Amino acid sequence: MSGNRGTALLMVFVVVMVGLQVWIMLRPVPVPPPVTLPPEEQKVGEAPDVEFATPANRLRNGVRYKPGEILGLPVTPERTEVAPLPPERLRDYLDPTRDQQQQPAEVIRRLGIRKGAAVADIGAGSGYFTFRFADAVGAGGRVWATDISWSALNYLRQRLKNMPRKNVFLVLHDESDCLLPDRSVDLAFICDVHFFHYPTAPRGSRPMEDVERFYQSVRRVLRPGGRLAILEKSAAIEDPDPYRGRLSDAAIVAQLKQCGFTLVKSHAVLRNQYFLVFRPVR
Ligand SMILES: C[S@@+](CC[C@H](N)C(=O)[O-])C[C@H]1O[C@@H](n2cnc3c(N)ncnc32)[C@H](O)[C@@H]1O
Repeated sequence: MSGNRGTALLMVFVVVMVGLQVWIMLRPVPVPPPVTLPPEEQKVGEAPDVEFATPANRLRNGVRYKPGEILGLPVTPERTEVAPLPPERLRDYLDPTRDQQQQPAEVIRRLGIRKGAAVADIGAGSGYFTFRFADAVGAGGRVWATDISWSALNYLRQRLKNMPRKNVFLVLHDESDCLLPDRSVDLAFICDVHFFHYPTAPRGSRPMEDVERFYQSVRRVLRPGGRLAILEKSAAIEDPDPYRGRLSDAAIVAQLKQCGFTLVKSHAVLRNQYFLVFRPVR
């Protein structure tokens, strides 16, 4: 009799423990409450519906992301827009006349992007390259479109609504760390960003330590065999708005060397841009 009671108690104990385990595994993970920006902030970009606030550590913890969600730094009224970009400028980046100079199809061909690969379009702006990468990597691949500008990512988010690509993930970060998960990227791509001077810093004054910190984060996110491609306006071109500090390709290569990257290929295909491919020195 007492043996039966003992067995029953043991079974109750086992059932309770298993239930507890299941609950621990399936319980909903708390997500921070949505933030609504004040009306004056909502005017930035094109869409007023701002309902995301995602801490950076979610990116590092292997969380499942919803396409179209903006991950990375939380958007709070205190930290809303470090580098506002007006919609006209964002539209300009997509101007089809750019294709002649930029040759995006040729750039992508030369990068040899495989189906299923993960590409990070760092400083994606309005996504001139993002959608092309999304097509290149296919449904089994992934494109991280990152930027320090919330208005750029919000603009990109609107484009994603109209042209849904389930393999594009948006990430807001700051200039010191691209925040992507470790070893999550086969190709980091940076076009017209390397010497882009965000409004909080006077042009040409970004200290080298910042550049190093930023590229260290790029190293961290590259998978073994991963590459970094930098496209940057040539210092030699005549430009009605030449900005101070534009670098020669040799100077960019020297900077990147200091950041732990070695040049593997310089593609002489774009008339007014350097197209440099690097690998991290391990
Ligand atoms: C001239 S736009 C180029 C946009 C896009 N790459 C293209 O080719 O159309 C420069 C972009 O870089 C972003 N940016 C500037 N500094 C950055 C940084 N440290 N990390 C990521 N994005 C940055 C800006 O917010 C802007 O969207």
